[in-house]
Amino acid sequence: MRNKTLTQYLIEQQREFNSIPPTLRFLIEVFACSCQSISNIVSKGALGGVLGIAGSKNIQGETQKKLDIISNEILIKANEWGGHLAAIASEEMENIFHIPNRFPKGEYLMMFDPLDGSSNIDVNISIGTIFSVLRCPKEVTQPSEKDFLQAGTEQVAAGYAVYGPQTDFVLTTGHGVNCFTLDREIGSWVLSQENIRIPEETQQFAINASNSRHWYPPVQRYIDEILAGQDGVRGKNFNMRWVGSMVADVHRIINHGGIFIYPADKREPNKPGKLRLMYEANPISFIVEQAGGSATNGSQRILDLQPIELHERVAVFIGSKNEVERVTRYHIDI
Ligand code: AHG
Ligand code: MN
Ligand code: MN
Repeated sequence: MRNKTLTQYLIEQQREFNSIPPTLRFLIEVFACSCQSISNIVSKGALGGVLGIAGSKNIQGETQKKLDIISNEILIKANEWGGHLAAIASEEMENIFHIPNRFPKGEYLMMFDPLDGSSNIDVNISIGTIFSVLRCPKEVTQPSEKDFLQAGTEQVAAGYAVYGPQTDFVLTTGHGVNCFTLDREIGSWVLSQENIRIPEETQQFAINASNSRHWYPPVQRYIDEILAGQDGVRGKNFNMRWVGSMVADVHRIINHGGIFIYPADKREPNKPGKLRLMYEANPISFIVEQAGGSATNGSQRILDLQPIELHERVAVFIGSKNEVERVTRYHIDI
């Protein structure tokens, strides 16, 4: 028998556990559908004329690639009309996006990183899309940025699509993590992994080691011990992987275990890491915790952090529980 589609899965969840209200189900389906459109464009590559830079910079001062902008536009157009959203925020837009008056407004706030791993677009390495969903505060009819500034624990759904050898859609609504693979022949997402669990023990780590001279002592100690392998205090050898697309690194980690680190470092002492809290770290942390892993900023659980601004950055230590707990301990012990 063929595995169930995303639609079937969501309807069953709604029927059996009453865990996904109809508007949230619609939101997830519409979002997953927009990832299909991005996947199609990504797969055309140079033939679609979508590679290269756009010639502009985003709010973080990063050079935008054509696909960053195209993906953002696809997501806005696909998600603005359904009546289920009150407002949208994106890595590629300085300010929040208000749902145009010609469309009805709904009860959810959506945030996304339209294209994660931009440096890999032109070289045919896995990239992805990350999203996070919050409830719009009840009394609010015209949301502002401050309505988005809710802790990650308030997320009602989060997920990512990874555009790799296969296109996968990984989803949590707070009841475990499932993966759906795009079946291009039938045009549907088909359940390919149910209730994903991250192994607690791991011998894999992911960090951009070219920054090692800038690391603070807890990270330096943790990585030094890993590199010492079976001759050191860890008593076992580790293997390193760094894709340069967090979605791809995290996708490997939720399947095989591992730890993904992007720490704050001494280059810019006031900058708490590179990744963005609201639409990168929070949704990924929600997924990782739902799969039995952990996620901290070195001292606190990421999902407990009170956001201060939409585009704020955060240090991340994410993945297999025992490793995340160990490196977090090293920060607290110092
Ligand atoms: P984005 O493409 O959305 O800006 O995110 C890129 C992020 C993340 O996906 C990746 O892990 C990290 O930046 C790579 O950083 P380095 O360039 O330092 O390797
Ligand atoms: Mn990103
Ligand atoms: Mn991005």
